[in-house]
Amino acid sequence: MTVPLIDPFERAITYLRVSVTDRCDFRCVYCMAENMQFLPKKELLTLEELDRLCSTFVGMGVQKLRITGGEPLVRRDIMTFFNGMSRYLDSGALKELTLTTNGSQLERFADDLYAAGMRRINVSLDTLDEDKFARVTRWGRLPQVLRGLDAAQRAGLRVKINAVALKGFNEDELFTMTEWCASRDMDLTWIEVMPMGDMGETDRIGQYWSLEDVRTALETKYQLTDLAERSGGPARYVRIEETGQKIGFITPLSHNFCESCNRVRLTCTGELYMCLGQEDMADLRAPLREHPGDTQHLETAIRRAIERKPKGHDFDYSRQTISGQMSRHMSHTGG
Ligand code: GTP
Ligand code: 5AD
Ligand code: SF4
Repeated sequence: MTVPLIDPFERAITYLRVSVTDRCDFRCVYCMAENMQFLPKKELLTLEELDRLCSTFVGMGVQKLRITGGEPLVRRDIMTFFNGMSRYLDSGALKELTLTTNGSQLERFADDLYAAGMRRINVSLDTLDEDKFARVTRWGRLPQVLRGLDAAQRAGLRVKINAVALKGFNEDELFTMTEWCASRDMDLTWIEVMPMGDMGETDRIGQYWSLEDVRTALETKYQLTDLAERSGGPARYVRIEETGQKIGFITPLSHNFCESCNRVRLTCTGELYMCLGQEDMADLRAPLREHPGDTQHLETAIRRAIERKPKGHDFDYSRQTISGQMSRHMSHTGG
């Protein structure tokens, strides 16, 4: 075991999020433009390269691996990669191997994911209304995702729903979504919309629904108890006493959580982003390809990158303008 990864602010880096593709079968309005230019296939890391990179991170102390995209399950042969990573669950080096998905392919993959050692997944779902779902995802169809959720739960996977809180869009579904998740024994996490990618006419400030307001609205109907427990990500949780379920809040805008950041993000081309909300990144593909037989160069490149991890993002809407806007789309770094 090598020296653990510690950043300049004394934060231990134990969580790697890996985007395995920039492609997606949806076009969510806050994530992608309708006509996205995707990367040519030759730019992508191969599955073997992804395995080598993740193995190096695991060797350097990463204990949680979350696979993202784009939509990770549209990457060809992705199960080969998951099956490979499950050896680190067996050895105990990894505490968790997990996935953030739009749910569209779960019907096909749920059993295989469970067999690879996955126990918990996050599924993005912003509305339970078929028309609204088609509008927000542009290309997605709700029944397909619902079948995917059924398959995931049947396979034994614990499901957490991630919903982006959007004013004038899912405000009126706060209670229906809460109760629907409770009835299906799923947790629910709300996320504040972040200024990622230039969306042209999209009005982010108009869309922004502060989770402080979401919480206040929930409190008109339920009794909430703050929970100290964390799932290794940025969400803070409360329990709804009436239903017993957990509700998470991810609040990059209304309550910055960067001081406890434990993660970095790898893109499908081997760029390492040290922060979701900053432009700086390190290219790991070059050392990976130039020195296929040894990990030393790669480890050095990773350590140098972690030494540059910034304190946090600069997202801010408080002056009725957007600060900290990223030109990158969310699909590039996987959320
Ligand atoms: P668990 O706690 O394990 O459930 O995971 P998580 O909350 O880290 O993962 P998930 O993929 O569910 O994250 C949900 C969303 O939270 C992401 O897609 C991002 O939008 C946001 N998020 C996660 N990590 C960060 C972070 O470091 N900074 C910011 N600004 N947002 C984050
Ligand atoms: N702000 C907040 N969350 C976003 N996501 C995608 N784009 C944004 C954004 N601009 C969320 C998705 C999914 C996760 C990967 O990131 O809804 O839950
Ligand atoms: Fe695809 Fe997820 Fe982006 Fe929607 S938010 S377009 S499902 S990557």
